[in-house]
Amino acid sequence: MAEEFTNPLRQPLPDGIIPEDVVARTENRWLMIMAAMLLFMMAIIVVTGIMGAMQPSSNVELIDPTTLHLQGEFVESNLGTTAEPDGSVTVRLIATQYEFVPQCVDVPVGRAVKFRITSADVVHGFLLPGTNVNTMVVPGFVAEVRTRFTKEAEYAMPCHEFCGLGHHAMWAHVRVVPQERFGKPALLERRTCATQ
Ligand code: CUA
Repeated sequence: MAEEFTNPLRQPLPDGIIPEDVVARTENRWLMIMAAMLLFMMAIIVVTGIMGAMQPSSNVELIDPTTLHLQGEFVESNLGTTAEPDGSVTVRLIATQYEFVPQCVDVPVGRAVKFRITSADVVHGFLLPGTNVNTMVVPGFVAEVRTRFTKEAEYAMPCHEFCGLGHHAMWAHVRVVPQERFGKPALLERRTCATQ
């Protein structure tokens, strides 16, 4: 002990002052922990990328964007709101630069509603303020969001992913209407309010 005090750098410091080498050691430890976490997260990104497993977390349903409007589920005549046999409602939309197709849809209050949306070109975003509906719309994937509206409302839905020069003008509307007004559309009928 006595020998240590002969070295001026090793002399005890006044209370409350932490020796420089202790500070340096602690900082180095934290630096190594941070570096290890970073490497771990980067490794996850690289591995999932190489394995082809990097996908939007909410949905892994693939679709060929060249078929939109023309054939398959997102054929032109299948867009809009439709009633399912179990009483729920499905809304199919295509997001494209710079509009949602159809631009306006009606959905009934108090019934299960399922939005199925896909993109024809770049990444768009679909958001109904104040509800759980908030998703990215990625080309090549079908984004599906389930909800149930508790009150009548008219939502303006802004695209919330920057998608090009017309992004700010990419809006459409979802109208939550009373069940009576929604009526009982035939199972095969597709509804939109875009032309009203
Ligand atoms: Cu579509 Cu921004």
